[in-house]
Amino acid sequence: MLQFDAKIVSNHLLQSSYYLLTVDAPEVCELAAPGQFAHVRIPGFTEGILRRPFSIYKAQDGQLAFIYKVVGKGTAKLSSAKAGETINLLAPLGRGFDLTLCDDEIPVLVAGGYGVAPLAFLARRLDRTGVVCIGGKTQADILCVDEFDSIGWRTLVSTEDGSLGYCGLVTEVLKNILGEMGEKIRVYACGPLEMLRAIAEMTVGAGIKAQLSFDRHMCCGVGACWTCVIPVKKENGWQYSRVCKNGPVFDAELICWERLE
Ligand SMILES: Cc1cc2nc3c(=O)[nH]c(=O)nc-3n(C[C@H](O)[C@H](O)[C@H](O)COP(=O)(O)OP(=O)(O)OC[C@H]3O[C@@H](n4cnc5c(N)ncnc54)[C@H](O)[C@@H]3O)c2cc1C
Ligand code: FES
Repeated sequence: MLQFDAKIVSNHLLQSSYYLLTVDAPEVCELAAPGQFAHVRIPGFTEGILRRPFSIYKAQDGQLAFIYKVVGKGTAKLSSAKAGETINLLAPLGRGFDLTLCDDEIPVLVAGGYGVAPLAFLARRLDRTGVVCIGGKTQADILCVDEFDSIGWRTLVSTEDGSLGYCGLVTEVLKNILGEMGEKIRVYACGPLEMLRAIAEMTVGAGIKAQLSFDRHMCCGVGACWTCVIPVKKENGWQYSRVCKNGPVFDAELICWERLE
């Protein structure tokens, strides 16, 4: 993990409230793995001292890229940052996805909203293509479809209001895929907690491996403050685990779901 000042290459609106931030970071680019994140000090953000975590969307050509949604004061301020400005990052942080698949395993990616960002990075690093289910509340929340199409993934879109693709939850699309493809799949997912919970209910106990990336409020981002904990199973009980250090990616079967809110 490095702490460094990076030059902003570009920072522009993608669609609706989603932005794409690209920074120069040649050293970290080499180290970054899918599922890892950066803890970002937002330039000129004087109202809050905490950094904000964002999943790495791309790490190539000496640059890191992030897709972020404006949800509050920090991300609103970030959206006004200009190319050429300096931004301070801690990266790469956390443990990412396990990229090792068995010979006959097919990857199935499940994304909710900006959760598509680390999965797009993962898709480019896996040694095979598979199926990606991209869900959101409306069409405005559906990102990266052309990108997955262009690298040969079967792309299934769903929206809760029916404005694009299947009308309903992305987990309903996953349920159909599980029925179609059986157990020879590996699920990788990133999105809201209830989406991850629904995926665990479908996979744990059905013999399907699922790796889930958790989005928790974070303070330090490096394992010191225990703000970001989730309950995980251990022999004869459970314990808290830090999402920023031991995650953000965890095996679905390791989570103590009944204790997780
Ligand atoms: C490991 C990790 C990876 C992430 N990757 C991305 C990403 O790739 N793209 C992206 O847009 N966002 C991502 N997030 C969420 C992002 O960090 C928050 O949306 C951001 O910190 C909000 O900052 P803010 O100052 O704008 O919001 P605040 O003003 O702090 O809060 C505004 C609203 O956003 C909610 N919020 C704050 N933090 C989070 C959070 N961590 N998760 C969900 N809701 C939150 C608050 O509850 C509040 O309702 C990630 C979070 C984690 C932990
Ligand atoms: S955010 Fe401090 S321990 Fe995870």
